[in-house]
Amino acid sequence: MIELAVIVTLATLGVGVATVLGLHLLPTVRLQLVGLALLAVVLPLAAVLLSGWVMIHMGADVKILAVASASASAAVGAALLLARSISRRIDRLRATSSQLAEGDLAARAPETGPRELAELGTSFNEMAGNVERLFDARRQLVAWASHDLRTPIASMQAMLEALEDGLAEPEAYLPALRDQVRRLGMLVEDLFELARIDAGLLTLELREAEIEHVVESCLRGLEPEARAKHVRLEARIAQPARAVCAPEKVERVLFNLLTNSLRHTPSDGSVAVVVEPLSHEVRITVEDTGDGIAPELVRRMFDRFWRGDRARSSGKAGGGLGLAIAQGLVEAQGGRIWAETRPGGGARVSFTLPAAA
Ligand SMILES: Nc1ncnc2c1ncn2[C@@H]1O[C@H](COP(=O)(O)OP(=O)(O)OP(=O)(O)O)[C@@H](O)[C@H]1O
Ligand SMILES: [Mg+2]
Repeated sequence: MIELAVIVTLATLGVGVATVLGLHLLPTVRLQLVGLALLAVVLPLAAVLLSGWVMIHMGADVKILAVASASASAAVGAALLLARSISRRIDRLRATSSQLAEGDLAARAPETGPRELAELGTSFNEMAGNVERLFDARRQLVAWASHDLRTPIASMQAMLEALEDGLAEPEAYLPALRDQVRRLGMLVEDLFELARIDAGLLTLELREAEIEHVVESCLRGLEPEARAKHVRLEARIAQPARAVCAPEKVERVLFNLLTNSLRHTPSDGSVAVVVEPLSHEVRITVEDTGDGIAPELVRRMFDRFWRGDRARSSGKAGGGLGLAIAQGLVEAQGGRIWAETRPGGGARVSFTLPAAA
């Protein structure tokens, strides 16, 4: 009798494992679930029947068979119902993803039902939300870029037409023309730099550098502009700091931050670069005593083409790309950049760079 029990148990296990492996080959979740239900009912029953048949010498086999088939049919029925509800939810998710693939970016999947499917719905919706935001941002970028390119071109065209018609002397328009060409050149250069950052094509030669030298070289370049505006420009470096960075890119970041500060600081104000070595990084801060930034706008400043209303209306806004480029360059060197309002008025923009070992 013990041998029989061992043989039946081993045979049940063997058939069970083989069938489960076979179930993986079935093409749909529905079929797999039905197969699983059948296996769960038929296999133990077969084992009971086999041992019962031997034990009771075919005494009550018809009754046992009837009970066995009834319970097996009930289980298969229940499995079919379950499978239908699961596959209906999956079908809805599939339909939503086809809608999204066809360009309907507002399509969202239901987030109800069994936990796994609800979670799948939630993460699908998160992905769809991100795709929608990305497309919106791209649309906005193209709209702003074309506006900013069109404005200087239209103005140059008007000036050239006036010159052709003899309505003005070339000398009168030359400085304005040069100015517009310079604006266009800078905008194209900035767009090119951003495209390279986005495409990951930025080739950075990271090396150890003394931040003091980078700051000094940048301040030297901006000193005449600061003097002309009567703005005090200074560096506050309490302790020498070395960082692993691409010095020419750090200079570009500093230049973008300093030109912003000079642009937004009235005469008799001051702009300072503060360098602080921390445990694993070097923090560089540019702070000014100028217009300052509203706390709710400190994140938006880094968006491409974004310019504050105050900057626009006072004519102090540029292309709106300076901070976006600074963010791209800082992050490519393994640092972070953020803005805050300076206690006592003015703006403060800081970034970090990995400290040299
Ligand atoms: N130091 C600052 N003080 C006050 N507002 C600032 C300061 N720096 C930046 N901003 C605000 O953030 C906006 C975005 O700055 P960003 O440098 O990206 O563009 P921009 O200076 O307008 O143009 P660009 O740098 O392309 O010439 C500015 O238009 C301005 O409204
Ligand atoms: Mg700027």
